[in-house]
Formats: sequence, structure tokens, C-alpha cells
Amino acid sequence: MRHYLDHAATTPLLPESREAMLPWLGPVANASSLHSEGRAARAAVDSARQAIAECIGCLFGEIVFTSSGTEAANLALIGSALANSNPGRNRILVGATEHHCVLHCTPLLQRLGYLVDEVPADRESRIVPGALCELLGDDVLLVSVMQANNETGAVNETRELAAMAASSGALFHSDAVQTFPQRFVFAGDLVSMSSHKTYGPAGVGALYIRAGTKISPVSLGGGQERDMRAGTENVAALVGFAHAANHFRNNDFGSEMRAARDALAAELLLHGFEATVRHGPILPGHFHCRCPGIDSERMLIRLDRAGVSASSGAACSSGSLEPSHVLLACGYTPKEAREGLRFSFGKDATVEAALDAARLVIDVAERIKRGRH
Ligand SMILES: Cc1ncc(COP(=O)(O)O)c(C=O)c1O
Repeated sequence: MRHYLDHAATTPLLPESREAMLPWLGPVANASSLHSEGRAARAAVDSARQAIAECIGCLFGEIVFTSSGTEAANLALIGSALANSNPGRNRILVGATEHHCVLHCTPLLQRLGYLVDEVPADRESRIVPGALCELLGDDVLLVSVMQANNETGAVNETRELAAMAASSGALFHSDAVQTFPQRFVFAGDLVSMSSHKTYGPAGVGALYIRAGTKISPVSLGGGQERDMRAGTENVAALVGFAHAANHFRNNDFGSEMRAARDALAAELLLHGFEATVRHGPILPGHFHCRCPGIDSERMLIRLDRAGVSASSGAACSSGSLEPSHVLLACGYTPKEAREGLRFSFGKDATVEAALDAARLVIDVAERIKRGRH
């Protein structure tokens, strides 16, 4: 039996979403066309937009569809920077543990004339509200802090952070890719979401833009998404996204995921693994740890062979794992930051399967340790 424990990277497509998408994969359907096929496609896009808006409790017109969570976050940061007409607001603050879809906007924001500062995180990867308070000033245009960290699963105090940004007149963007829809927090002016983390198809996301927020488009062309994001809509993907989001809005598998996660974690902690997050709020399906002395690349390759699909959560470039920027921001050494392991559970998690996976993980770690001596 294989154990897929990488739901924070992507989730399987929900069968009901797949069914809902099928009618839109075949026929010609450009949602901008005036003929009846086009109008049917437009109606499908509109009802997907209505579904996402209802999921988070915003207005229909406040949702802009994008090709991914990455594009949504890019639009939030770069679009706000481009739309800003106040030269006195030339600083942008981003959490040090943000996903690269936020952090990698920095060089472009700097070229646009902004100073970008990172807000420090604590040892468990949460952004420290006091640190944000110290960095805030009336020269800050935008603050971007994720709702929950994709590597560690640690949950930030999004409402408190958004209120702090608002009190200094700054916009607040939160990356809700790991929390949407069940653990979504409605706060701030801009919120990014993604479909494939919630059993929808990959390659589709959305940005909530609070009505009245000034933002410029980043992709230009046919005027789709009310001129905010040009490009012919992927009707099938939007239908699948809305379907999956609706499903999880009404079904919370948190207790199943938490029970399985806790069972795996308890076993691993008894066998020399160290948990990264030990206090405070955490996503129910996440367990992030290190096996001191074993780098995650080596561990993940062996785990894969043993039948466990896990992740480090960190970026892989040129075929080798970089030290995790999240663990570095938490204060780990570069060597320790190469030891991160993320096990993330999905809706079908069971304690029995988690215990079986734990046995395999412990066995792999012990074999690696024995092989070294
Ligand atoms: C927190 C977070 N933000 C953004 C993204 C990017 O989303 P997408 O894969 O839809 O581009 C991810 C995906 O791993 C993520 O975990």
C-alpha cells in the first residue's frame, strides 16, 4: 500500500469535480462570445464566481479568477504597486516565511521603486505581530502575510495582523492557499486562493479584491475578468474549482486528518524526530519535523522507494534541495534547514494508515542511521 502524504503540495481531483468539468472539456465555449455557446460558458463562469464568493462571504464582483495561487499573489503585490499613486507610500512588508510566489516579487517591486522589508518570524514560523508593529509606518503601501505556512502548517494571527496594517493605512494581502476553504480567514483587502490544494484541478486560482481597492492588471489583452486579468477563461477548470470549494465548505475532514497526523507524529517523536511546531494553532493535516543528522533529500528518496510520498516543503532547484527559507527564517542553521520533512494528510486519512506509514518512516530513518556507521 502506498501512502500519499503530500496533500499540502497538491490534492487528487475530487471525482464529483471531475464529473462537473467533463461537459466543459468537449464543446467550443469562449465565455466572451455572444452566441449561445458563449453565453452558456459565461453562465458557468458566473456561477463558479458566485460559488467562490459565497465560500468566503464576499461580493460576486470582488473575485478575480487567475491561473493559480501564484498568479493571484503576484497580482496582489505587483498590481497594488503599479496602482499606487502616492510616492510617500513606497515600502512593502512581506512575512519572512511567505511562499516564493510572494517573496520572489521582491526584485520586481524594487525595480518599481519600492523598499521591501521582511517581517521576522518566530521559531515556529509564525509572523510576530510586535515585529510587524515596529516596521509599520505611514510610508507602508502593503503588508503580505500568509494565513498558514505551507511547510510547517503553523497558522498566523491573520485578523490581528490585518487590523494592524489597516490602522497604519496600509493594504493587507493574505495568501490563503493552505487555508481555503475550511480554515479560511476573511480579513484584509486582498486574499489569494488556489484550486488544487482543495481537490480541484491545478492551474486555477482566485484573488479576492475588496471593492474599492486600487489595483492595476498585470496581464493585458482581451479585457476578461473586468479588465483585471486578460486571457480566455478556462471554463472547465473554473467549474471544477467551484465544485471542489463548495464540497469542502460543507464537509470538514479536520478531525480525521488531525487524528491521523497525531498518530504519525506521536510515533515519529518517540523515535528521534523533532517537531517544528509544538505550540499554538496549526493546520490539522500538517506534521513538519526533522530527523537530526539526515538530510531530507536522502530521506525523501528512500521514503519514496519504501512507499511513502512526503516532501520537505522546500524548493528544489537544479535537482537538489535548497535549505528551506522557512526554517532559516525560524533560526535553524543551513544544515538543519536541509533536514525538514513534511507529512500532510488529506480527507481520506485514517489512523491505521498513518501508523503503517510511521512504521515505514522509522524503518527508513533507522536504516540510514545504521548505514552511516
Ligand atoms: C502557501 C502557498 N501559496 C501559494 C502557492 C502557489 O499556489 P499555486 O500552486 O496554485 O500556484 C502554494 C503552493 O504550493 C502555497 O502552498
